[in-house]
Amino acid sequence: MLRKLLTTLTILGGLLAFQGSAHAESACIGCHKKVTPGIVEQFLSGKMGKAGIDCSACHGSDHTTMTDYSKAKMPTPDTCKKCHPVQVEQFRAGKHDLGWIAFKAMPMVSHQPKAIVGDGYKGCSGCHKIGKKPPEEMAHYRYGNAQCDACHTRHAFSKAEALSPRACSNCHMGFDHPQWEMYMSAKHGIIWAIDGEKPNGRAPTCQYCHMPEGTHTVVTPWGFLALRLPTKENVLALIKVAPQLEKELRSLAEKLPSGHYVDLDDDPQWTLDRAIILQGIGVLDEKFQPTERLEVVLKARVVRGPEEFNKLRIAMKKRCYTCHSKPYIDKQFRAADEIIKAADHEFAKAIRAVQDLYRDGILQKPPGWKYAPDILQFYDNPTSVEQKLYLIFLEYRQRAFQGAFHISNDYSHWYGWAPLKETVVEILEKAKEMRELHQLKTSSK
Ligand code: HEC
Ligand code: HEC
Ligand code: HEC
Ligand code: HEC
Ligand code: HEC
Ligand code: HEC
Ligand code: HEC
Ligand code: HEC
Repeated sequence: MLRKLLTTLTILGGLLAFQGSAHAESACIGCHKKVTPGIVEQFLSGKMGKAGIDCSACHGSDHTTMTDYSKAKMPTPDTCKKCHPVQVEQFRAGKHDLGWIAFKAMPMVSHQPKAIVGDGYKGCSGCHKIGKKPPEEMAHYRYGNAQCDACHTRHAFSKAEALSPRACSNCHMGFDHPQWEMYMSAKHGIIWAIDGEKPNGRAPTCQYCHMPEGTHTVVTPWGFLALRLPTKENVLALIKVAPQLEKELRSLAEKLPSGHYVDLDDDPQWTLDRAIILQGIGVLDEKFQPTERLEVVLKARVVRGPEEFNKLRIAMKKRCYTCHSKPYIDKQFRAADEIIKAADHEFAKAIRAVQDLYRDGILQKPPGWKYAPDILQFYDNPTSVEQKLYLIFLEYRQRAFQGAFHISNDYSHWYGWAPLKETVVEILEKAKEMRELHQLKTSSK
């Protein structure tokens, strides 16, 4: 109640600050009815237009003629913050705000066309502009700094639109994160659609589970890549089964947070498999010690430690308990964690086979690369076995576990687990061939 009142007061304050421009028809609107009638119509149909807010509230008042429009400013969330501080602060605390720096941190980004990774917005940058740019890039990009228009598209800026799962579907779809397709092929999405796409019906929407009480802070326990920090306890338990690595593991354990993860945890084989995956993406070196990439990963909050993971997991389960029983849901989460564990085991086998090719000199590290194999080079990888590692990492493993959490059996199994296993067989077979060919070549020298 108090929060609602405070929100109303802030908005009123904001309105007063813009009083001078709150005419029914300002100069901006008058001229733009002719220049861009669609924009004016859409804006006036939304709540802000109806409340008498003017174009100048977001674009400033410097541009006034037919030719000086380069003086019009483009908004950022700080523009909205004057009137909507709560949503902006919540948004800044969540993962959406980190979308830009996370994608820019990928080593393959620097060798793609600007249209794909820059202000052409025809690929990675088109989706990742939901994140905040560092100041130097923001100053350089005229468009695409608004962030909030990812779900409340201009110029209607509608709450109803943002409450529909469709508002997430242009980004959360496709190759490596088909949440929209998984949701729509799971009972939750099917019921939502059959019941007329209402925001608060019998079945939950994306927003119900991920933006509870309308919070703009989105973040999940496992995250996009189902990576998390191994804990001190995880690593020490591994020493018992891999004593030959004791020195390296003790040194690694010292650098890690202490604790246990809720649901599935503390299986030494799993810890080892996951350490190999971290090597495959260059976050741990060959001696299992953190590289400088760990800093980047922590800065972009790609991985979580036990404290944050457990808090988020418990909160997410509480969301499910509103419609399901506790034991039913607890079983669901453990089963989904089991999928990650099984997928990690298969994946680690394949990474190992490729690591061995490098170790034995059958493959050579490409010039300029710091790590090899380096799965984060995605489709810029030099050999077919490494291309396949990248497919497992971003496509098959992702679908296997994301589908399990979103209850899409087809995605989880036929688009995830099945091709994952198939691809591991292909990698092992190909690695064997490469090894044989190499032996043939070296013995004939
Ligand atoms: C006399 C007519 C006129 C007035 C008054 C006017 N504009 Fe414009 N505005 C234009 C024209 C023309 C363009 C360019 C549109 C085009 O070429 O499609 C433009 C473009 C814009 C753009 C887009 C700029 C870009 O780089 O894409 C914004 C934003 C804008 N106006 C906002 C405003 C605001 C805010 C006001 C009031 C402070 C305003 N306009 C007043 C005529 C006007
Ligand atoms: C000058 C103050 C002001 C600024 C700046 C402002 N808003 Fe608003 N906003 C309002 C007012 C007033 C309302 C209407 C509140 C109501 O009627 O409940 C509103 C409502 C909204 C709503 C709810 C619409 C609905 O359908 O219920 C959204 C979403 C929104 N604004 C987004 C934004 C975004 C995004 C920005 C920045 C790009 C922004 N606002 C900038 C004052 C502002
Ligand atoms: C269709 C929109 C879209 C495109 C294109 C896209 N991404 Fe993403 N990206 C997303 C979404 C949505 C997520 C979050 C998915 C999830 O959490 O399951 C994401 C997540 C990521 C993450 C993980 C961030 C984290 O903290 O876990 C990285 C890194 C990333 N993308 C990099 C890239 C790169 C590099 C490209 C281009 C080569 C790219 N993305 C292309 C939408 C896109
Ligand atoms: C609540 C904030 C807000 C208000 C008020 C607002 N705009 Fe915008 N406008 C935006 C955002 C956000 C963008 C997208 C900027 C970007 O891509 O960086 C935008 C972009 C534009 C563009 C260029 C992009 C395009 O789609 O052509 C024009 C033209 C424009 N606005 C005109 C107007 C006019 C005319 C009004 C008043 C009727 C208005 N705006 C009111 C937020 C606002
Ligand atoms: C990921 C999608 C998404 C993004 C991005 C987003 N919003 Fe929202 N917004 C929503 C949803 C969903 C709601 C409805 C929440 C509810 O009532 O349950 C909402 C509601 C709102 C409301 C109306 C609050 C009310 O109850 O009247 C405002 C204002 C608002 N958002 C502002 C913003 C601002 C400012 C930004 C940028 C910092 C932003 N939003 C970015 C999804 C989004
Ligand atoms: C019934 C609740 C629920 C609904 C509905 C739902 N999700 Fe999820 N979502 C989850 C759970 C549970 C996880 C995994 C949580 C964890 O890591 O423990 C998750 C994870 C995610 C992730 C992280 C990567 C992943 O897929 O595991 C993203 C991104 C995401 N959901 C987006 C969406 C989008 C977009 C929609 C709608 C199209 C949606 N979700 C619908 C519960 C839901
Ligand atoms: C413009 C594209 C875009 C839209 C629209 C969008 N997202 Fe995202 N979302 C992303 C990107 C990119 C990321 C990854 C950010 C990062 O982690 O660096 C992401 C991350 C997330 C995450 C965090 C996953 C994690 O790693 O924990 C959740 C949850 C999520 N989005 C839910 C939603 C929901 C729900 C909606 C719709 C209401 C939505 N998103 C709309 C692009 C989008
Ligand atoms: C708003 C209510 C609601 C919430 C919240 C909710 N569910 Fe459901 N769920 C339903 C309904 C309704 C069904 C359909 C019942 C059926 O399958 O007979 C369902 C079905 C399911 C099913 C069975 C699907 C199948 O294909 O057999 C699972 C598993 C499930 N939900 C898990 C979850 C999980 C996990 C969460 C939290 C992340 C969750 N649900 C949150 C309403 C909800």
